[in-house]
Amino acid sequence: MSKPWAGRFTKAVDRKVERFTASIGFDRRLWPQDVRGSMAHARMLGRQGILAPAETEAILAGLEEVRRELAAGTFPFRVEYEDIHMNIERRLIEKIGPVGGKLHTARSRNDQVVTDLHLFVKDEITAIRALIFDLQGIILDRAAEELETVMPGYTHLQRAQPILLAHHLLAYFWMLERDDGRFADAYKRADLLPLGAGALAGTTFPIDREQVRQELGFAGVYENSLDAVSDRDFVLEVVAAAAICQAHLSRLAEELILWSTAEFGFVEMDDSFATGSSIMPQKKNPDVAELVRGKTGRIYGDLMALLTVVKALPLAYHTDLQEDKERLFDAVDTLKACLEMTAGMLATVRFNRDRMARAVRQDYSNATDLADYLAKKGVPFREAHEIAGRIVLYAIQSGKYLLDLSLEEYRRFSDKIEADVYAALEPEACVAGRNSRGGTGPEAVRQQLEKARALHRARAGLFGRTTEYGSAADPLAPTDGNGAP
Ligand code: ARG
Repeated sequence: MSKPWAGRFTKAVDRKVERFTASIGFDRRLWPQDVRGSMAHARMLGRQGILAPAETEAILAGLEEVRRELAAGTFPFRVEYEDIHMNIERRLIEKIGPVGGKLHTARSRNDQVVTDLHLFVKDEITAIRALIFDLQGIILDRAAEELETVMPGYTHLQRAQPILLAHHLLAYFWMLERDDGRFADAYKRADLLPLGAGALAGTTFPIDREQVRQELGFAGVYENSLDAVSDRDFVLEVVAAAAICQAHLSRLAEELILWSTAEFGFVEMDDSFATGSSIMPQKKNPDVAELVRGKTGRIYGDLMALLTVVKALPLAYHTDLQEDKERLFDAVDTLKACLEMTAGMLATVRFNRDRMARAVRQDYSNATDLADYLAKKGVPFREAHEIAGRIVLYAIQSGKYLLDLSLEEYRRFSDKIEADVYAALEPEACVAGRNSRGGTGPEAVRQQLEKARALHRARAGLFGRTTEYGSAADPLAPTDGNGAP
């Protein structure tokens, strides 16, 4: 069969051009969406009397046969038919004859491809949100186990103030919560039907876009045909959301990498989520985390490529837009794999509580609490800070930590300091005191965990998931037996 557009041409296209312009190598992946869209279009043409009942039936039966070939992997993809749309249409005509050529009535590949892409993006957003949900569930469980684990908190990668490990883990819950919100929001803009826009200007046939909208499950239709075939912001949005989400995963990955060094020793990766070295027998490398970190560049690159594709593109359709698919596919595939891997790492990683507890006693991260101690005794905070700073300097020079100084030593710096200073400087006490809302104090973190669980639980139904948080040791374990706290 010749090309669908051969009529206007006097000679065959150059083979190299054929390969250069074809997208079937990658857009074949859109076949489920393409068949769905075509079936909805054919039914609408039938109901509108644009196709006779027998024609509609023949087309639908033919499409069903083609669908089965595609699902079975026996469909003969051909590069000379350029893309998935023409491959499916040609196959349909091969099967049912010239009547198959009526499917493309009142339609263009321009509104067809972007309809496929909307269906694809909607499915992917739902899949991504489900994976975010699962990862958040693991964070909630691990955080509940670490409500008493004190560790150094850092700023500038310098020990800053003691915090709870649960608090640190929950920080990622909230990042992912916002990521979920971004995807949910992007979904709203992807939830519009472009089909019916034709090539760019609508159609002379009495189509009914409302029927197609309903059958394909879109919330609305594009109101401007030029916009409908040109719009790729729904792709940009989902890839931008993916880039931000991946940035969050890369931060967590980096912390796991850092924490599993001998220098930190805060975590040990499970053997099932690490690999060895071909030369150094002792090595256990956090490759999974490194790849999550490393793949971040791909998604950023995908976003930049897509932004550049649409930049300065006049209305309406241009083949530049064919470049959207591989970048979109890469971004969603990469993010989904990284979400899954991060969940696996976090579910299996071992937290070294002793090491964290020791670390927090071998630093000066209780210095703020010394300043606060003085301030609570009436010393203006600026002065208290100055005094505490001098005490820290003295301690460093004497090779001691703050808890090692004698009361006599303390009182050389301020007569406001009394024996109760030691209790105030215990790392556990430093943490326990910070129950301001959103702080790392145990009460504040428990409230935070409950809020996080409530938000998480409220979404479970969307993804067909159930939530049963916590272990026997979980202080927040549900007591009424039905999952409510
Ligand atoms: N393969 C094309 C794409 O991916 C489909 C639309 C082609 N339309 C056209 N007029 N060449 O965008």
